[in-house]
Amino acid sequence: MRNLDENTITQAVLARLEHATDERLKDIVTSLVRHLHAFAREVNLTEAEWEQGIQFLTGVGHFTDDKRQEFILLSDTLGLSTLVTAMANRKPLGCTEATVFGPFFVEGAPEYQNGDDVANGARGEPCFVSGFIRGLGGEPVAGARIEVWQADADGFYDVQHAGDDAHRARGVLHSLANGRYHFRSIVAEPYPIPHDGPVGRMLDALGRHPWRPAHLHFMITAPGYERLVTHVFRDGDKYLDSDAVFGVRSSLVAQWIPHEEGVAPDGTRMNTPFSTLEFDFILNRSS
Ligand code: BEZ
Ligand code: FE
Repeated sequence: MRNLDENTITQAVLARLEHATDERLKDIVTSLVRHLHAFAREVNLTEAEWEQGIQFLTGVGHFTDDKRQEFILLSDTLGLSTLVTAMANRKPLGCTEATVFGPFFVEGAPEYQNGDDVANGARGEPCFVSGFIRGLGGEPVAGARIEVWQADADGFYDVQHAGDDAHRARGVLHSLANGRYHFRSIVAEPYPIPHDGPVGRMLDALGRHPWRPAHLHFMITAPGYERLVTHVFRDGDKYLDSDAVFGVRSSLVAQWIPHEEGVAPDGTRMNTPFSTLEFDFILNRSS
C-alpha cells in the first residue's frame, strides 16, 4: 500500500487490523484510530502541535512512578475517569452512587473497631462519622468491610507526607449486626490535586484550578452486594460545582454539623469544637 494521503490513510490503518485475533482489542483499536484521525482532521493539527502533544505525553510518563500516577490524573482531569466510572456503575434508583477512586487509596490500612479514631494523629478538627449500610430493600448489611481515607487539615493524604510511613486518616472497619458503623476522624477540607507536574501545567494553560471539594472516601464490600467506591462531599464547599476531577454527585453531598466543646455522640467529653457527619449507604445486590 503506497501513496497514502490525508484521504486514504485512515482506511489503510484500519485494513491493517484485519488479522487481529482478539476481537475486543480489534474493536477498541479500530475506534481509537477512527477517533484519533477525526480529531486531527477536525482541529487541522499542525506538525508543531503534534510534537508538543508527544512531548506532553512523554512528560506525563516521566512524572509517573510507583507513588505518582500522572496518567490517572490526566484521565481524571479530562473527565475520562468519571465517564468510565459512570458506565461501570449503572445502579437502580435508590442505591448510593459511585464516584472516582482517586490515586490515594492504600492497601493494608489498619483495621479498627467501631468507635475508634482512624485519624491516628492526622491534623484536623475532630469529626464523628456514623451511619448504616443497607441493601436496596432496606435490609441491614452486617459485617460489610468499610475502607475510609481522607486528606488532613493541610490538604494532604498521609502518603504525601515525605518521611512518615504511618497510616493516618485511613482505616478499615466492619458494620455491626444492625448495619451501623461509627468512627472518629477529622473534618474533611478541600485540597488541590497534585499539580506540580505536566497535568498541573495543562490545567494552568487551560485556565482551570486544581481543587477538589472536601470529601471523605469510602469503599464498601459485602458478600452478595456490588462493591461501592464513593465519597461523601461536604455541603457548602465552594468547589462543589467545579471539582477538578468532575466527581461530585448531589446525592453524595452531606452536612458536617459543627458543635461547640461538650459531649460527643459516643460519650467522649470534647474540650475543643468538633463536627458530626451521618451518612447511610445503600448497596446494590450483585447478580
Ligand atoms: C482524590 O479524591 O483522592 C483524587 C481523585 C482524583 C485525582 C486526585 C485525587
Ligand atoms: Fe480525595
